[in-house]
Amino acid sequence: QAQNARIKIDVDRTIGEVHEHLYGNFTEHLGRHIYGGIYDPDSPLADEDGFREDVLEAVKGLNVSILRYPGGNFVSNYHWLDGVGPVEDRPTRMDLAWDVLETNHFGTNEFMEFAKKVGTEPYFAVNLGTGTIEEARRWVEYTNIEEGPYYAELRKKHGYEEPHDIMYWSLGNEMDGHWQMGHLNAEDYSKKALEAAKLMKWTDPRIKLIAAGSSNYYGEDADPDHWNRTILHELQDYIDYISLHIYVGNEDDDYYDFMASPRVMEDRTQVVRGMIAEIMQDPERTVEDDMIYIAWDEWNVWYRQRGATGGSGYNALEEKYNLEDALVVAGFLNGFIRNADIVKMANMAQLVNVIAPIFTNEEDLFLQSIYYPLQLFAQNAHGTALDVYVDSETYNTDVYNSGAGYSATRQLDVPYLDVSATYNDDGKVVINVVNRHKDEAITADILSQQGIFDGPFEVYEVNGPDIKARNDFNNTRVKTTRKDDLNVSGESFEYTFPAHSFTMIIGEIE
Ligand code: AHR
Repeated sequence: QAQNARIKIDVDRTIGEVHEHLYGNFTEHLGRHIYGGIYDPDSPLADEDGFREDVLEAVKGLNVSILRYPGGNFVSNYHWLDGVGPVEDRPTRMDLAWDVLETNHFGTNEFMEFAKKVGTEPYFAVNLGTGTIEEARRWVEYTNIEEGPYYAELRKKHGYEEPHDIMYWSLGNEMDGHWQMGHLNAEDYSKKALEAAKLMKWTDPRIKLIAAGSSNYYGEDADPDHWNRTILHELQDYIDYISLHIYVGNEDDDYYDFMASPRVMEDRTQVVRGMIAEIMQDPERTVEDDMIYIAWDEWNVWYRQRGATGGSGYNALEEKYNLEDALVVAGFLNGFIRNADIVKMANMAQLVNVIAPIFTNEEDLFLQSIYYPLQLFAQNAHGTALDVYVDSETYNTDVYNSGAGYSATRQLDVPYLDVSATYNDDGKVVINVVNRHKDEAITADILSQQGIFDGPFEVYEVNGPDIKARNDFNNTRVKTTRKDDLNVSGESFEYTFPAHSFTMIIGEIE
């Protein structure tokens, strides 16, 4: 029994520009992400620089717009000088975050080679845990200053005549978390981050700085609102973004609760949006008009490979994703688009093997279910985010995310159809629809409020045989299928969205 719904598209009702950095990723020294993932000089699949060619191709398919490096928890005990210069001279260190040895064979310059090959913007995180503010500043000098001072000359000595010009830098990682090496309270973090920010910006005034916002939402020490409000206030004159992190999961195996979990991200976005609005009115603010934006620079489904079950070591965090995870990922991307005026960066954590859309073994790789919605968004959903009217039946849930340590409990009516839309520069509207219903298709009337639909429309669907279906090296059960084009014209058309699916419809409005 198909339900009916209505979706109204109005190209005049806009939210904001969809920043290309909404489709970013994150690369950490963790498990088989770098070594045995993107970088494997001994592999027959590696190119002349040691990068796995099949991985490069798969990464390119995601159009990764910005790539965060080198952590994550790893960065809070990482000293970047260990990872530059002749490989044979680089020291092996204990990686205390993930309980392995770090050879430092891969470092700043290798990462930059990778970033160039896949055509992405680099985004570095400095160590504000065990690192000093001077160490952070020297890294900016090494990467961004053309010539003259010691670290710029050192880069040249290492074979990189031209600066790397890294424009995005975050001031530490998850510094609100008790698990973080060098963890600080909000006041102490603000002081250290402020001094680091000054030195880094004085070294290269062009750079954009991202403050490490809240990641700790549970436990006795968690006070995300105090953390965010304090750091926004103290760092406001130096930062361009506040970063937020979120991981969701389906620990209770409740499909409908899990489908609602991206709402946690949207709710927290609203809270921080309000704090930013307050800061913009702060009489102490000395920088006029310079907006602070939100960077969700770690987000994903992650709940299986935690703690004792694959939470550390050389095979850490090798989460295998299914169809319901892919639908949640599509829900996150819809949520980022709906908040495109304030969310200007989002980095799926991570990229390869470690809670990632791409999974390798020594001979091969496969694309996980979550690869497909990210790919569709990254390749197609650009331009201006539209404020879409959706009339769809709802279901009620009271625990809408019980996974990954977050346990937000409140009554929530969740529409079965989760929709976002963009209006691209080429006059094409892109309509993104998750049908969260587990068993029923939903038919929607899609109406244009301004201009008329002018087919043919392309239709792409991410789906699989059932919500627990996953891919592996031999089977691709969850994937994108291109459906027959729709010959639509006029003010409306009807489309039936299959149960547990994500659909992207692309076409012109005249
Ligand atoms: O992405 C895995 C880990 O999750 C990161 O290292 C850390 O920042 C977060 O807790």
